[in-house]
Formats: sequence, structure tokens, C-alpha cells
Amino acid sequence: DSGAHVPALVVGTGYGGSVAALRLAQAGVDVHMIEMGMAWDTPGSDGKIFANTTSPDVRSYWLRTRTKQPISNFLGYPLDKDVPRHTGILDAEEMGQIIVYQGRGVGGGSLVNGGMAVTPRRENFGAILPSVDAAEMYGTYYPRANATLGVGTVDPAWFESADCYQFARVGRKHAERSGFPFVFVPDVYDWDYMEKEAAGTVPRSALAGEILYGNNYGKKSLQKTYLAQAGATGKVAISPLHKVTSVAPAAGGGYTVVIDQIDTTGTTTATKTVTADKVFFAAGSVGTSKLLVQLKATGALPALNAEIGKGWGDNGNVMCGRANHMWDPTGKLQASIPCGGIDNWTAGGAFAEVAPLPTGIETYASFYLSITNTPHRAEFTWNPQTGRADLNWQTAWKQTSVDMARTIFDKINAKEGTIYRTDLFGAYKIWGDHLTYHPLGGAVLDKATDNYGRLHGYAGLYVIDGSLIPGNTSVNPFVTITALAERNIEKIIATDL
Ligand code: FDA
Repeated sequence: DSGAHVPALVVGTGYGGSVAALRLAQAGVDVHMIEMGMAWDTPGSDGKIFANTTSPDVRSYWLRTRTKQPISNFLGYPLDKDVPRHTGILDAEEMGQIIVYQGRGVGGGSLVNGGMAVTPRRENFGAILPSVDAAEMYGTYYPRANATLGVGTVDPAWFESADCYQFARVGRKHAERSGFPFVFVPDVYDWDYMEKEAAGTVPRSALAGEILYGNNYGKKSLQKTYLAQAGATGKVAISPLHKVTSVAPAAGGGYTVVIDQIDTTGTTTATKTVTADKVFFAAGSVGTSKLLVQLKATGALPALNAEIGKGWGDNGNVMCGRANHMWDPTGKLQASIPCGGIDNWTAGGAFAEVAPLPTGIETYASFYLSITNTPHRAEFTWNPQTGRADLNWQTAWKQTSVDMARTIFDKINAKEGTIYRTDLFGAYKIWGDHLTYHPLGGAVLDKATDNYGRLHGYAGLYVIDGSLIPGNTSVNPFVTITALAERNIEKIIATDL
């Protein structure tokens, strides 16, 4: 309520925010989490909480009137369609020359993502977070994050026979025939549940193609892990459909936080002001960066340093498809949860997820999301004319990522005598180079903050999400975001409370 005072306020309920809330609550601190998206705890008219990937509806997109599907076309047909404007689950946020996909709701990105839970290879860690002690991360915080997230790997024996992983076995065969290592990729999906889906004994989720707009059953989103544990402490309250718009020092100490309550059309219905002793920015890389550049430029937090908004990257994301021969079908039934990847990071700067195309029909297509070692970094700046934060990313920078991905797929195509699909991202367009699923950076650790996420210039303000990581993790990012948050909150609880 307006006028309230809270010891700890957390902006956002994704990975960083959920770690902060759980560990603060366990240390005896009352926590209030503010989330601009919906709670996602109530079934729609079809009896399900989340919409299916093949039929996006009112639940699927954040305040858009037309869907913006990552794979926009198929065999010459555009796939997007009109939907009512609603506070749906997936935000396709247009930031200048890149579309940044993000989850909206209690659980943040964990609601919409593929659940691929990958710990970077240790020899790559020094380039990811140079100021962080790798021995501590690999000895304590990665194991803690993986255990609390519920990370597991597909049973290799089941994998060999499961119809729903035909696409992954074809992906493996093609990788290995070209001399690339295929690695199993861990995931937070409940693998026992998936085996039951295949056996037909439980309602289908991964095998119904659910991904992007939420998973109704098998995926262990943060709602089922960190946030469930946080709720069980009795010390964590969450306000969905509330958006933080300002944070500034309060006269009597602590911070004044201004929060807009919105309805499901995105209209502000009330504005509330509370005070908080400590504020944790966990609005995601884009959300936190936008807020901080605004607060610095408009005079709410003028002492934030010049690193605010810098060091933003797309984790080198680029997508592509390959057209297989008729003797290499990828399967009508495809699990929506990927379970393997092609590791050519050291030689070619690319790690490619062998991804599903769960269309329900045989497509003879192999589909991949590559993470690449791109050097390009963009910066958020405040635009006083528009009253918005701009990001100076350039689409042309993706060429570096395309070249790195081609170190894998040009070779596979040459070996197999196959070609790229040209129909998935437009007419005669091979590369999905217009988007990222993995925004990182904007308030980089040890630059905009100290080495534990304390914002320079303001005691009691912290960054604890993906904005701390300077643009690349060499693999999918959420395990690293979670492990870094575990490391930082432990230090903050020990020294700042
Ligand atoms: P996250 O984005 O999770 O949470 C931020 C929260 O803050 C959101 O809920 C947002 O609504 C809220 N918020 C923002 N501004 C606010 C404000 N002003 N007031 C109140 N609330 C506000 N990663 C991975 O490791 N493996 C994978 O398989 C995938 N797959 C994948 C697929 C898709 C489609 C997407 C979009 C993303 C992925 N990712 C992924 C990426 C992963 O989901 C992402 O890196 C993390 O969710 C980022 O965690 P954070 O804690 O930084 O923020």
C-alpha cells in the first residue's frame, strides 16, 4: 500500500530477484517483490494457465496487438496474427535494431524459456566475469544454483529410443559426421515427467510443443523452485501487475520507490509510493538498465557512475535452419525442450543448441540457436526528447555471429550435401539475426557496481540480475545469473544487514 515501509524491495521476479528474495527471507528479512507482469496462477477458458506455441492467443504477448513470433514465416507464409492487447507472457521488445525477447510475470524469463541450464566450461569463465573468483563459483555457487533450480539431464538410454528426440539424434549424427562434439545439455524440465508424457500416462507439456508462452506441466520454472521456497518462509510478498517507475533517496534515510499499478490492458490504475531500506534491481538486463539510465539522467540518482548503461550484449544469439534430405526426417513429434548442443566454441566461437521445430508435421528441417563469441557491445542512453532509453545496437554487428555459426553449419551442409532453409525468418532469409533471447549487461559487475553488485554512489542499492554480466556467457545464461546472484547475496547478507 502507498505509504508503506519495507526493509527490502526487489524490482522483478526473475532469477536474480528470486535468489535475493529467498536468501534475504531465510536471513530473517521481510521482502516485498514488485513484478510488472501477471501472477500466472489462474487457468484461462481452456482450463490451462498457458497458451500453446502453435496457437498464440491473448495470453501470449506483452501489450502488442499482433504476435511477433521468433520464427516469423514457414514455407512462404507469414505466421503472425492479430491478438488483443494484453499483459501477456512474452515481451518482444523492440530496442532500436534488435528485438529482445523477455518473460513477463512472476518468474520472469523462467516462464517462457527453454529451461536449458548450462554451466560454462571453466576455462571460459575468466572471460565471462573477470573479477569473480572461479574457484568459489565452481566449488560453491554453481552447485548451489543447479541444486536449487532442479537441473537434470535426459536419460541417455531413453534419449536413444524416444520418438520426440529424433530431431536431436539427427542433429547429433550430422554434427559428429562433420567432426564436431555433440554434448548433452542439462535442463530444468522434469525428465521423469517427460518420459511419462511419452508413455501417455500424464497430460502433455513438452510433447504438446509448449514453449515460449509457458509450460503447463513439466518445466520447473522459478514458481516451482526458488519462489516456492521463498513463499514458504512466510516473509516474501509479491505484487504482480505493479511496475517500478522511480527510486530516489528518501528524506529520512532509505529510498522512496514509486510504483504504478496497471490493469491487464497496461493502463495505470493507481500510483503508489513506498519507502525501502534496501532496493534490489532485478528487472532483467533491459529493465534494470533502462531504469538506471533514466534515474541517473533525470536527477533521481545523479551520483550513479558513468558505467551505467554500458557493456550490453546479445550473447551472440543467431538462429538458422537446415533442410535435410528425405532420408533424414526430424520427426512429427518433437519435444519442445532441447537436450543437446554442438560445441565449437574454442575453434569457431560458436555453441549451437540443436533446437526443436514442434510444428506437429514432418518438416525435414534441423533448427539451431547459436550462442557466439561476438565482441560487439551496445550502450543504453537516456533520450530526453522521447522520454525513453535508447540502445545503440546495430543489426550489421550480427554478421560476426553469423560467421561464427557458419563455422559449424557450412561444414555440415558441405558434408551432408544440404542447404540452409530460407523460409523461416522471411522470404529468402537464412539467418535469424534480428533478435536475442539472452540480453546481458548494462550495469556491469565491478564497473557500475562494486564486485558484489552494490551500486556505486548509493548505499543500500543493488543490482542482482543479468545486467551484471558484460554481454556474453558462452552458453545459455540463467545458471550463471543465478550462481552470481547466490554469490553476491551471501556477501551482502553477511556484511550489509
Ligand atoms: P528476468 O528477465 O528473468 O526477470 C526480470 C523481471 O522483472 C521480469 O519478470 C519483468 O517483467 C520484471 N520487470 C522488468 N521491469 C520491471 C519494473 N520496472 N517493475 C517491476 N517489474 C519489472 N536462458 C537459459 O539459460 N536457458 C534457456 O533455455 C533460455 N531460453 C530462453 C528462451 C526465451 C524465449 C527467452 C525469452 C529467454 C531464454 N533464456 C534462456 C534467457 C533467460 O530466460 C534470461 O537470461 C533470464 O530470465 C534473465 O534473468 P534475470 O533475473 O536477469 O531477469
